[in-house]
Amino acid sequence: MSLSSMASVAEAARDIAAAADLPALEQIRLHWLGKKGILTQAMQQLGQLSPEARREAGQLLNVRKTEVQSLLQARRTALENARIQERMAGERVDVTLPGRRVALGSSHPIRQTLEWIEQYFSGLGFEISDGPEIEDDYHNFEALNIPEDHPARAMHDTFYFDQNRVLRTHTSPVQIRFLEAHQPPLRMIATGRVYRRDSDITHTPMFHQVEGLLLDEEASFADLRGLLEDFLQSFFARPDLPVRFRPSYFPFTEPSAEVDVGCVICGGSGCRVCKQSGWLEVLGCGMVHPAVLAGAGVDGEVFGGFAFGMGIERLTMLRYGVNDLRLFFENDLRFLKQFS
Ligand code: DAH
Repeated sequence: MSLSSMASVAEAARDIAAAADLPALEQIRLHWLGKKGILTQAMQQLGQLSPEARREAGQLLNVRKTEVQSLLQARRTALENARIQERMAGERVDVTLPGRRVALGSSHPIRQTLEWIEQYFSGLGFEISDGPEIEDDYHNFEALNIPEDHPARAMHDTFYFDQNRVLRTHTSPVQIRFLEAHQPPLRMIATGRVYRRDSDITHTPMFHQVEGLLLDEEASFADLRGLLEDFLQSFFARPDLPVRFRPSYFPFTEPSAEVDVGCVICGGSGCRVCKQSGWLEVLGCGMVHPAVLAGAGVDGEVFGGFAFGMGIERLTMLRYGVNDLRLFFENDLRFLKQFS
């Protein structure tokens, strides 16, 4: 073999430059520098040459080998860099993409009304209170001036556990519990669930009420009237909302009234919701009955005041124009989401 017949570095350089990827480059390395590679074999054949020719050829071969090695190394680095670049381009994070939304729940419309009302009255110095849903006959009826044989018991379709225990039919018993624990002057607001044996399109066996009580040395029906008028106009966000007090009867107040607002659905001209009357009944109220005060140990000569109670489902329906009571209890997200 003659040295001049050995492949030139230029040929190796061309192959190396053309290697498309690392496996191809490895093939080229084997082709030139592997055990049977061209340069390796040429090295092995040096022994056949004369000493002078061997030295010259050996130096030349070493130079070529070094050159080829450094060309291979340079190409390997380039290919590896290219591979890293490619991967980084593919894995790039687009920081301008919108984030994944965390779906936030919202409070139930009934709860929103309860909280609105609590906030309104606590802003006027009313203390937020509550009582048990399982009540005794005394607090639910007796202490509210509704004795055993009183016809007003028929107004409450009561769930009885036994002779003495009931599911409370209204939040008025919280008045009594509050009076047992506090001395007048006092102001209290209580919200919660109440129960009646009643179930049709406009009644559910469980619903919510709010109860208010105010006792002071001077608290008049005019105060009650002013307070409730402002409350209703604020609640319906209508400063000009007509409010009227109609004489009524509740055993625990005297005098008693039911309060109507101008129909918030039709504006008073008459519709299905107000049954063409132009008015909607929204709450009951009155001056606390002397028998209730006496039963609670309050000196009715010094202190007097008023109480009021209202149904939350009804207020919420009117406020948002909801026409079916059942929607509040079905937990259909399409309905509930409208209140977030
Ligand atoms: N407890 C009554 C009911 O459930 C509502 C009510 C009326 C409450 C007059 C009161 C009131 O405090 O003074 O129908």
